[in-house]
Amino acid sequence: MTLTSKSFEIFCGTGGVGKTTLATARGIALAKAGKRVLLITIDPARRLKDLLGLSGDQVGEVVPVEVIGVKLHALLMSPEKTILRMSQKYQKPDLATNRIVQILSRPYGGMNEILSLVEVQMQFETGSYDVVVLDTPPGAHFLDFLESLSKIRSFFDQNFMEIFSYLGQKTAQAGKKVFGRGIINRFISGGVRKLLSYLEAVTGGQFIDDFIQAVQIIYQSKDAFMKGLSLQDRLKSPRECNWFLVTSVEQGKASEAIELRSHAGHFIHQDHFLVLNKCLAKDLETWTPTDLKMKAVKKSLTDNEQDLKGLLRNVFPMVLEFPEVISLSPIEHLKHLTEKWNSYASQS
Ligand SMILES: Nc1ncnc2c1ncn2[C@@H]1O[C@H](COP(=O)(O)OP(=O)(O)OP(=O)(O)O)[C@@H](O)[C@H]1O
Ligand SMILES: [Mg+2]
Repeated sequence: MTLTSKSFEIFCGTGGVGKTTLATARGIALAKAGKRVLLITIDPARRLKDLLGLSGDQVGEVVPVEVIGVKLHALLMSPEKTILRMSQKYQKPDLATNRIVQILSRPYGGMNEILSLVEVQMQFETGSYDVVVLDTPPGAHFLDFLESLSKIRSFFDQNFMEIFSYLGQKTAQAGKKVFGRGIINRFISGGVRKLLSYLEAVTGGQFIDDFIQAVQIIYQSKDAFMKGLSLQDRLKSPRECNWFLVTSVEQGKASEAIELRSHAGHFIHQDHFLVLNKCLAKDLETWTPTDLKMKAVKKSLTDNEQDLKGLLRNVFPMVLEFPEVISLSPIEHLKHLTEKWNSYASQS
């Protein structure tokens, strides 16, 4: 089994299995080995914020951090800040000021997943990092993240492209003038027109104007969105991306991991790693209970873990094991798990 670092390292898995902790430890291990690391989290629980001791106004910014004596960069995704960066980078100030775009880019606003990809792409493009470690949100949200790749594609699909390119030509002819709704009306179906006139009655004309402007602005920024899409091929390549599907030695978690892989199988390449977190077997070996009840507990825990490992090794070709760190301190967790990453890297 070879574990060499790649440009992109993605951690996914269901809720509470240790994605954020392991992604952080991985980032630290790589930085310690001399890599320039950016750790990005799109975890809505914001655990990384606590782990790294970041303050509220640092959310959404790339921040240099020092954890257990190791320096790296971290970014807690904030879709609003990503939109702002996009508008600056691509010189589209309207992107940051349009009210509809602002609503769409709020947390849970519908554009978060697309924006995460655009962010990863923009950050990698700076050339400042050797590795971008990405900690994703749990289970279903992670699938949304992957699906966003095809969402972008369908958003800019043929029909939209026709309307947009027509609007684009007209906009070019008319200079910077914002387009009236007459053009939209000619191109959209009766149903959508009805919906727009209903919305206009309810919300007033401004909403429709903002909406039309939002469509145009998004169209004008399509290159930035499509660049996010180009990341898809890189993430699918075993040369460029390590996928870590994380699970833990807890009831039901392994079957969730198997299910997740089957749903995400067309995105995650074949050479992915299954990471089994919170293993107890090593500690159990040195535990020598004397009373019968505790002996039974030990046997049950040991057997359970062994069965689980057997099951997972049948399904996943590459399994990495990480111990349950017996401590309440998150920093202790990071120290031990970083060492474990180092030991895997030195085996290859
Ligand atoms: N190997 C470990 N040993 C002991 N505790 C651990 C280990 N890995 C993670 N934990 C603990 O388990 C809890 C969940 O970890 P973490 O937040 O990293 O999971 P997650 O998969 O990112 O969760 P979420 O799905 O909510 O994002 C935390 O309290 C963390 O400190
Ligand atoms: Mg997390």
